[in-house]
Amino acid sequence: MRVLVVGSGAREHALCLALAADPAVTALVCAPGNAGTATVAEQRGVDPLDGTAVATLAGEMQADLVVVGPEAPLVAGVADAVRAAGIDCFGPSREAARLEGSKAFAKSVMAAAGVPTAAARICAGEAEVAAALDEFGPPYVVKDDGLAAGKGVVVTSDRAEALAHAKACERVVVEEFLDGPEVSLFCVTDGSAVVPLVAAQDFKRIGEGDTGPNTGGMGAYAPLPWLPAGLTDDVVRTVARPTVEEMARRGTPFAGLLYIGLAITAHGPRVVEFNARFGDPETQVVLALLESPLGALLHAAATGGLAEQPPLQWRDGSAVTVVVAAANYPGPPRMGDVITGSDQPGVIHAGTRRREDGAIVSTGGRVLSATAVGHTLAQARERAYALVRGIDLPGGQFRSDIALRAERGEITV
Ligand code: AMP
Ligand code: GLY
Repeated sequence: MRVLVVGSGAREHALCLALAADPAVTALVCAPGNAGTATVAEQRGVDPLDGTAVATLAGEMQADLVVVGPEAPLVAGVADAVRAAGIDCFGPSREAARLEGSKAFAKSVMAAAGVPTAAARICAGEAEVAAALDEFGPPYVVKDDGLAAGKGVVVTSDRAEALAHAKACERVVVEEFLDGPEVSLFCVTDGSAVVPLVAAQDFKRIGEGDTGPNTGGMGAYAPLPWLPAGLTDDVVRTVARPTVEEMARRGTPFAGLLYIGLAITAHGPRVVEFNARFGDPETQVVLALLESPLGALLHAAATGGLAEQPPLQWRDGSAVTVVVAAANYPGPPRMGDVITGSDQPGVIHAGTRRREDGAIVSTGGRVLSATAVGHTLAQARERAYALVRGIDLPGGQFRSDIALRAERGEITV
């Protein structure tokens, strides 16, 4: 199987590593990729948002499968362009990717499918926002309707800050605050069958102890020792299947990766968000634990054959990933810093590039993520932080408390 992975982040590096380990994958190209993907896949330059260019590249390399990693190309219809060229593609259509591309659309699908989620108001103008804030009360949750790379959401008890964020957005969703630990559950689907992967937890805030502004994610671990037994099955039954069925009923089936972001509240799991692709940094830990060949799984999802796939195999133990971000992230990151230690096994690249002189330099906000597995969560943490200590990124920031509360058994539901 010849596979093209589209994208240039840590998710794509992790996908490439897992695909390269699948003996059925005979050729692997990553476009445009980063300095990490270049070590496992052939690099090709492409504008990931240009569906025609991606389809042409896939045709040239005689790809049997294209995997579209990030949300922006999916929302732009890149998967449609690849399929129109007669090539199988893992990733939802433009219409189906609206589950991530518009929070208002996702809310309407959830309402139609009876999926438990936060009550929400879609607001236009300051008066409507103010009314919605007062209806739900603090803490206020204000979301930009469109794609915002994980930074479109403000959760605050400061009403003025909530209003200011709403003002900066074009269309705004104000919603009820969901109290409880968050879970990311990835479900692979071919538009009808649903296969859940192991549940993970992401750390969205930049600061220790979940303080400071939201980021794209500062670390993750899996599995979740505190997750109630049966919760994954419950979420597949009450969230994933009804959503996939509703999308099919609308004539816009969702095939690809349905990322279900949940809060485990006192009233049970509630959907915080849907994404239409593998999440980053959770992908790094989920794929580190997956033993089954990834190529076969993604190909089956792309071709409607998921129901015939054997059950997934997972390795015992835990995985932890710690993101190393650039100075000033999540503000405009400082770039062009020379990085050392990024060639250690387990270091996954996000915003990196190999300079002509061979040096690896930073090119984005989230630069690397140090990923390790262990027999226990404590061991995986220790190994991930040992990798971090071996990395030098001038001005780099990382959280030292990734998976710490879980290791200490402090998370309860
Ligand atoms: P989203 O982009 O919708 O995932 O939101 C980003 C982050 O904001 C989530 O991972 C949560 O930490 C937080 N968040 C979003 N919606 C809510 C909510 N209704 N209640 C509490 N926290 C939320
Ligand atoms: N881990 C958050 C995201 O991928 O959106």
